[in-house]
Amino acid sequence: MSDQAAISFVPLDPPTDGIVALFAEEGPKLTPIAKTIDKSSKGLLSRAAEISGFKGKKDSAIDLIAPSGLKFPRLVLIGMDKPSSYREEDWLNLGGSVRAQFTGREGDTVHIVLDAGPRVASPEDVANFALGAQLRGYKFQKYKSKAKKKNGAAENDRSLKRIVIHCADPKAAIKAFVSARALANGVTIARDLVNEPANVLGPAEFAHQTKALTKLGVKVEILNEAALKKLGMNALLAVGQGSDRPSHAVIMQWKGATGDPVVIVGKGVTFDTGGISLKPAAGMEDMKGDMAGAACVVGLMHELAERKAKVNVVGIIGLVENMPGGGAQRPGDVVTSMSGQTIEVLNTDAEGRMVLGDCLWYGQEKFKPQAIVNLATLTGAVMVALGKEYAGLFSNNDELSQRLTVAGDITGERLWRLPLGPKYDKMIDSKVADMKNTGGKWGGSISAAQFLQRFIKDGTPWAHLDIAGTAMSSVDSDINRSWGSGFGVRLLDRFLRDHYENTEGIEVARRR
Ligand code: BES
Ligand code: MN
Ligand code: ZN
Repeated sequence: MSDQAAISFVPLDPPTDGIVALFAEEGPKLTPIAKTIDKSSKGLLSRAAEISGFKGKKDSAIDLIAPSGLKFPRLVLIGMDKPSSYREEDWLNLGGSVRAQFTGREGDTVHIVLDAGPRVASPEDVANFALGAQLRGYKFQKYKSKAKKKNGAAENDRSLKRIVIHCADPKAAIKAFVSARALANGVTIARDLVNEPANVLGPAEFAHQTKALTKLGVKVEILNEAALKKLGMNALLAVGQGSDRPSHAVIMQWKGATGDPVVIVGKGVTFDTGGISLKPAAGMEDMKGDMAGAACVVGLMHELAERKAKVNVVGIIGLVENMPGGGAQRPGDVVTSMSGQTIEVLNTDAEGRMVLGDCLWYGQEKFKPQAIVNLATLTGAVMVALGKEYAGLFSNNDELSQRLTVAGDITGERLWRLPLGPKYDKMIDSKVADMKNTGGKWGGSISAAQFLQRFIKDGTPWAHLDIAGTAMSSVDSDINRSWGSGFGVRLLDRFLRDHYENTEGIEVARRR
């Protein structure tokens, strides 16, 4: 967990103390309060802008320490280009980059004056700005022994304690921030789970953590190995059989509305050694993040419950550790999945699809979902195709695919659709069983997706998100410096909000 700064919203008065952040649009055109402060300091801001060549561009700032004629210890003037053309993502990113100005520097309270005008910075924009700031402030410091805690904050880190946002309509911003805060918490939970090392977070420990959701009204059911066996989830169990740590599955139900649920399934391989088809040593430590799909599902369930979303969602995660060992599955083994279909295990490192196959089947049998979406760090090949900016999207349904893609564009958690088809499906036909768990050298992400599709019933809208490139070992962004990005929580929140939630007209009006 990180030492998050407390955020509050106050009216648009010029701040009287603390560190101050002011804005300028392209030009530079100072915002009204920045102008007032410029005047009261006899043109300090405009002079500083001129001398430094500051034009109000995004990602540019002037940092004034002990500005003469003003009582603030520090004043930062930040460029925001053209806020009138900002989208949701731009407000998030601005919040993130502004937050970065105040990390590890003197002072513990910063006053941010967002007076770009009420029609420019709406309450939702202000809340998104605050969310971006919170997400950027995340740090995984749990195992830094020198960061001794004092009053909940790390003593050797002069991190920010309070963010006060001055805005046009603080009451409305506080209201809008209720769901933004839920999102910040959901993403933080997902990041924490992904960052946690696998000696600490095994299948049982992960399952145990989901119990915290019950406090928010989520129904949590944990299936142990005996229960999984009884259900016939032998493909999932086969993956975990080489580990001393027993496999689990967790079913989380948030019933904020009636009607058929949307089911979200996550791959939760708490560590993926590859099993008997052992992975090379270099970089294997990254495989502690092979549960990022499951982490996203837990973060999302938290988020939905915290903001009391009027939506019916079931989260299902399969939790296993993929280890070599005396009891481990062997290449060539044949297992019977819960669906009754048999799988020839050609490579024990293609384990995620075995776990998901059973979870997807269980989800359809039990809940008759109106749509089912799974997230998995499924293949290295998806990074070969798309790099680390887009996650792979596979779907049997154009409408579902479109909804997810748009949600990705709005939130900045982007998806790129890749193909499925009968020719690809043939790649996983097996000589001895109904299917094999690898499809050969080429198109590895596609044959993995084809494998999953064999566990989808005709008529169930389904989408698979391959998040191997986006959820872990993440590239730095304005709103994330953590190894585990928490990818998918904001995306699925937006997807559910826009299409499955009883919004009573409020959220619908916000859609762009
Ligand atoms: N968990 C890995 C995929 C992965 C690789 C995620 C790198 C994140 C970063 C998955 O279980 C796996 O090992 N996939 C194999 C499949 C192959 C054996 C058919 C892969 O991608 O090489
Ligand atoms: Mn693997
Ligand atoms: Zn894996």
